[in-house]
Amino acid sequence: MTVTVTTLPGDGIGPEVTAEALRILQTISKKIGLDICCNEHLIGGAAIDEFNVPLPAKTLQACKESDAIFLGAVGGPKWKDIEVHLRPEQGLLDLRKSLELFANLRPVSTQSGLADLTPFKKGHLSNLNILVIRELTGGLYFGKRNRTAHEAFDTCKYTVPEIERVARLAGKLATKRTRKITSVDKANVLDTSRLWRDTVSRVINDEFPSVTLEHIYVDAAAMYLISQPETFDVLLTENMFGDILSDEASMLAGSLGLLPSASLGQNKPGLFEPIHGSAPDIAGQNIANPVGAILSIEMMLRHSFKQADAANALQLAVNNVLSNGVLTADLVSDGQKPASTIEFGDAVLENIQL
Ligand code: IPM
Ligand code: MN
Repeated sequence: MTVTVTTLPGDGIGPEVTAEALRILQTISKKIGLDICCNEHLIGGAAIDEFNVPLPAKTLQACKESDAIFLGAVGGPKWKDIEVHLRPEQGLLDLRKSLELFANLRPVSTQSGLADLTPFKKGHLSNLNILVIRELTGGLYFGKRNRTAHEAFDTCKYTVPEIERVARLAGKLATKRTRKITSVDKANVLDTSRLWRDTVSRVINDEFPSVTLEHIYVDAAAMYLISQPETFDVLLTENMFGDILSDEASMLAGSLGLLPSASLGQNKPGLFEPIHGSAPDIAGQNIANPVGAILSIEMMLRHSFKQADAANALQLAVNNVLSNGVLTADLVSDGQKPASTIEFGDAVLENIQL
């Protein structure tokens, strides 16, 4: 099988973590006889520097024509004064919207050996496996906004079909897990949340009767993620709440650098990217954690290319490397020598059994 992957390394640490992830993708694809054709394009600040726009037409076209897209990270202080619709982040938002990637899957699990590196008491985190499903093309991110000298506004809007499609995907994924969905909203205050709650209830109750659905407010969800994270399985939420809660949830795993994501729509291609940002303060030093990027390749193999065995082998290799104490600077304890980005990638390659 021949597949095309468009790669968008982006800004800051994006190119470094992308290089490790792609090295691993190339090695695995050779082993399993998947013929991968990668083409690299500019997005974010790197695209602004070259073409004055964060999502050049050529980049979008290449993405549309590919089977999967891999993105490193976008943004950085260099572009912070650019007007809002031309900022690096807008490139990523436009890409998500243009490809209708409405569901963003962000799995969070505890890794053996890393629990002690989290800010939590010993024994507090045991074998967590949470799937955050974040709606990705609606809400505050895409509503009308404006700013004048004296005031500014952003609007949050959701339609019933937008909520239905992400709820339906959550229902499908929940049936392959423990059949429990916790839907997060702020229905005591917001109309969009009341529509969200009613629509999610209808879709799940009508179409997935074996799934247990509970609703909680976002402020309580933020607290329970810390106090009793083991009570969550699928956490379904709208765009902005999902952005915030997934960064919070990353601390359960140990570091923001560990979390991958898959952004999926009704049709191909999917977009795979670590949830972390461009971390300009550590860019270019070969010290960034590539795990989120590498596990995004794992999600690409699983969701876009239906290569579950290869995906499992990669997951296992990453777990082994972490349990063996090969840790990047964001994870090491005092006095321990951190592995570089490339050393971590090397260790994963050595551990892949296929
Ligand atoms: C993420 C990022 C993006 C978001 C930014 C870079 C626009 O924080 O993928 O979570 O807010 O969605
Ligand atoms: Mn984010």
